Amino acid sequence: MRYEPIPTELFLRNRQRLLGLLKPNSMVILHANDIYPTNADGTMAFKQNSDLFYLTGVDQEETVLVLMPDAGDPKEREILFVRETNEHVAIWEGEKLTKEAAKAVSGIERIEWSASFESFLHRLAPQVDHIYLATNEHLRASVVVETRNARFIKDCQSRYPLHRYERLAPLMHRLRITKDPVEISMIQKACDITEAGFRRLLGFIKPGVGEWEVEAELLHEFVRRGSRGFAYTPIVGSGKNACVLHYVENDKICQDGDMLLLDVAAEYAGWNSDLTRTVPVNGRFTARQRDVYDSVLRVFRGANDILRPGNTPMEYQKQVVEIMERELVHLGLISAKDAKEQGPDKALVKKYFMHGTSHHLGLDVHDVAPPHEPFAEGMVFTIEPGIYIREEGLGVRLENDVLIGKDSNIDLMGNIPIEAEEIEALMQQKVSA
Ligand code: GLY
Ligand code: MN
Ligand code: MN
Repeated sequence: MRYEPIPTELFLRNRQRLLGLLKPNSMVILHANDIYPTNADGTMAFKQNSDLFYLTGVDQEETVLVLMPDAGDPKEREILFVRETNEHVAIWEGEKLTKEAAKAVSGIERIEWSASFESFLHRLAPQVDHIYLATNEHLRASVVVETRNARFIKDCQSRYPLHRYERLAPLMHRLRITKDPVEISMIQKACDITEAGFRRLLGFIKPGVGEWEVEAELLHEFVRRGSRGFAYTPIVGSGKNACVLHYVENDKICQDGDMLLLDVAAEYAGWNSDLTRTVPVNGRFTARQRDVYDSVLRVFRGANDILRPGNTPMEYQKQVVEIMERELVHLGLISAKDAKEQGPDKALVKKYFMHGTSHHLGLDVHDVAPPHEPFAEGMVFTIEPGIYIREEGLGVRLENDVLIGKDSNIDLMGNIPIEAEEIEALMQQKVSA
């Protein structure tokens, strides 16, 4: 098996927690994502709806989950609809879930074929007052295609116009904001695979190597260790490309004397990791590169100290910007006087550090959470400060994933080299080997 099996108890617990948040006499209907088309008869790789995966563990298209905790017939309290498999499907697409397999993965007793969903709905909908449906609610989402869940909302509302419709999203965000121990172990596994990839790179990066070759090395290491690949489109940016925050072309040659920014990480069994390291292409930092690097590392450490229960995302970001301001003054990028006189928008700091410091991490890389929720134990965040000096063709970002623990944060990437000396030593070792 590519992945260790995910304990079914995780999905049982997740559904149980959701039931505790529903109004009486209600029903949840959640559809899988579509397989998105490209051109001609091409498709993109299937990516499951994260909420559906969270509640069932089923990673297959055309799946529908129906929860109806107050159903008169106890056998109808949880029903999972999966795509019917047959000999033709087996020959062309390979094995799909049988009813027994779907039950084993999800822990749901009642499994039906997707084709019968409509007739079940017709019978079940009149028994409830509230219907919870899925909308994709993320601050930065820009969605121009109609998802399967969005199509179903229209369809369901036109068929049952007098039911009371509820948003499933806020409930899922509430559940998913803190991670189950099983989820933490999956994220840890993704981090460990990422570590192996990064260590492999330290012996590979040298002047003349293409950014795309670096990407290929990583993909090999990730996939051979059971990951399906990158958790997100990898950013491998040398020299001034490191200052382009969403640089994904990865098509330039790494030059002697430049730094190389790597925002690259593996997924594992659906969970994500998210790493950034910035290394000197030739294995030795120049004095200036080292100064900037150490400043970013100090901000990383300072941020870790205040990403703690009770603090809020907005306050935290403000405090990190203040730490960053001191470093930018230290680096001579802002004068002490200008720093003091700038307005509360901190425009001078934002010239060099223009993004957020942290985001939730889980089944989605920028994981969902109720907005403005104070930090709390059990949440997993990235910490990713950066300094981007376009006029010097130099950008440095460092990013680790941490679990907020009771007394301190647990760095899930604590084993991945981050100190400049260690990076240099590992790069030299391999070069001279
Ligand atoms: N790799 C995406 C991010 O760092 O947020
Ligand atoms: Mn990242
Ligand atoms: Mn990140």
